[in-house]
Amino acid sequence: MIDAKEKAGMEKDISEILFTETMIGERVTRLGMQITRDYAGKAPLLLGVLKGCFVFMADLMRRVGLRCEVRFIAASSYGSGTVSSGGVRFGELSQLDIEGRDVVVVEDIVDSGLTLKRLRDILTEMRPASLRVCALLDKKSRREVEVEIDYIGFECGDVFCVGYGLDCAERYRNLPYIGVLKPEIYI
Ligand code: IMP
Ligand code: MG
Repeated sequence: MIDAKEKAGMEKDISEILFTETMIGERVTRLGMQITRDYAGKAPLLLGVLKGCFVFMADLMRRVGLRCEVRFIAASSYGSGTVSSGGVRFGELSQLDIEGRDVVVVEDIVDSGLTLKRLRDILTEMRPASLRVCALLDKKSRREVEVEIDYIGFECGDVFCVGYGLDCAERYRNLPYIGVLKPEIYI
């Protein structure tokens, strides 16, 4: 259990709260309603990209009023810095049967777009009936490759975000809001 002192320690590393728990809750409800409407009569497969998506997925899936399935794949980039190296690996793709399915990829954040671009290409080859992407955060100004995102929670600037599943070296995932991590913490 995190005691009060440890939690305070975590919060002093945050320079600004971008999206509060309430703001996130309202936005995720809207996204869930949109997906429910768009996939009416279908049984979409929500495919989460671990680990960052797990908090978002847990909330989003409960806002989707359809007979959907939830699966996860692991994405790991080389290195543990705050800048994507572009070298991405996905785990257990061979066990993923998405042929003929309506797939919605659930991502925490799209930054350079390299991860999502690679994943989109890989999944497309697996011949799903349809493929869309739902990302909680879009760091648009950092894009290096063009990649389509169908559902976006919030746009954010060129800052390093943590909380609500997003981490820096595996920490801060448990913050209930999304905040900006002070650069001196990771530089
Ligand atoms: P991309 O390949 O550059 O688009 O990077 C995407 C991945 O980098 C995300 O799925 C996150 O895991 C990580 N990432 C990018 N920006 C942030 C951030 O601000 N906070 C936490 N993780 C981030
Ligand atoms: Mg991710």
